[in-house]
Amino acid sequence: MEWFKQLKDTDPEIFDAIKSELGRQRDGLEMIPSENFTSIAVMQASGSVLTNKYSEGYPGKRYYGGNQFIDVVESTARERAKKVFGVPYANVQPYSGSPANLAVYMAVCKPGDVIMGQNLSDGGHLTHGFKGSVTGQIFKSVPYHVRPDGYIDLDEVKRLAEENKPVLIWAGITAYTREVPFEEFAKIADSVGAYLAADISHISGLVIGGVHKSPAKYAHIITTTTHKTLRGPRGAMIMVTEKGLQKDPELGEKIDKTIIPGMQGGPHNHTTAGIAIALLEASRPEFKEYAKQIVANSRALAAQLSARGIKLVTGGTDNHMILIDLTPFGKGNGLLVQEALDAAGMTVNKNTIPNDPSSPFYPSGIRLGTPALTTRGMKEGEMKEVGDMIADVISEVKGYQLPGKEERVEYIRKFKGEIASNRRLAEVRSRVLELCKRFPLYPELELP
Ligand SMILES: Cc1ncc(COP(=O)(O)O)c(C=O)c1O
Repeated sequence: MEWFKQLKDTDPEIFDAIKSELGRQRDGLEMIPSENFTSIAVMQASGSVLTNKYSEGYPGKRYYGGNQFIDVVESTARERAKKVFGVPYANVQPYSGSPANLAVYMAVCKPGDVIMGQNLSDGGHLTHGFKGSVTGQIFKSVPYHVRPDGYIDLDEVKRLAEENKPVLIWAGITAYTREVPFEEFAKIADSVGAYLAADISHISGLVIGGVHKSPAKYAHIITTTTHKTLRGPRGAMIMVTEKGLQKDPELGEKIDKTIIPGMQGGPHNHTTAGIAIALLEASRPEFKEYAKQIVANSRALAAQLSARGIKLVTGGTDNHMILIDLTPFGKGNGLLVQEALDAAGMTVNKNTIPNDPSSPFYPSGIRLGTPALTTRGMKEGEMKEVGDMIADVISEVKGYQLPGKEERVEYIRKFKGEIASNRRLAEVRSRVLELCKRFPLYPELELP
């Protein structure tokens, strides 16, 4: 299939960047846990004529004409979402996860209301009330934390909920490697009359695949991005559960109105079509196997890292994600290890760990995950190889230590120069390349 011939002719500069990015994805190990590779079908829908159409409103109730086929696309996406998650209402229009979460706030809270979410450096998301996010500025945010063992501190959640009487509680994770206890969150939210919103952005594929408990019975509202374990295009959905409709029968209409006219204009119909396709793919039996393999791979990778003496937050994982604690090697070394892994062809992200002794820009952890490697077809045996390669890289740079603020820029510049010519990292790079060749990515895509 020769894709992008016209693009190459029209804009060689952008074409070259896309081609290089495809090469980067093919020849490296993508381990950022919020990333994945969509199917070719999802990419085709995302690059289709649907991008040309304005369709403000909802199926059957649009402001503009000519939406008969867009209505089919959006209704199909909504019905598939309802079916796979077992919920009575779905809105598939949010432009991405952050606006989806903001729409939830605007539908159920007033400015100044108390809300609760997992603290950012304890694994929560910015949009769950972080002070630098509008959600932490418009609402009175009371964050909850994890315990010293890294698990969510449900006693604290209960105490803070009773003391502060939040209108909304978020249960959802961005850097947390254990099962989210939706049932326990529901008991707490119900006891204080709060809405419980489950943000399953990271784990929606695992929920559909049956390898993470579904929040459908426990939460009132569910939000998810569509581009992570779900393997769809960049977008998001908001769902209301039966329990949510019992609490407020108009919750669905309120969310619809918050999205448009409240927050957004025309929906991204090409994305909606991609979401519909991803949901169809996720409803197939093979997807259950895929989700199971993501978690099996994550556990195998965690076991190998642990066997090589690397410390993990909570000591392991129940989901697609692993959080490495680098504090045995010093404070704030996440950036250095991220750069070294990058030089060896492994893409991960530096991340804060609970009670991080450093700062979010120079954190002391590394977050990584297995959705994209699993999409390539890798299994437990390959995870053992990957664990060894990560451990080899960490061992190679463990003598480096991020200095104080004044010396940082120069130190990092010098560090990058040294790792670029490091022979051991180059040797790991060739092992990575050899592994990637065994699991080709998008072999059917031939770019001119
Ligand atoms: C739990 C969670 N919620 C919301 C978001 C925001 O999604 P987006 O980046 O699409 O705005 C993310 C993104 O990483 C996330 O992990």
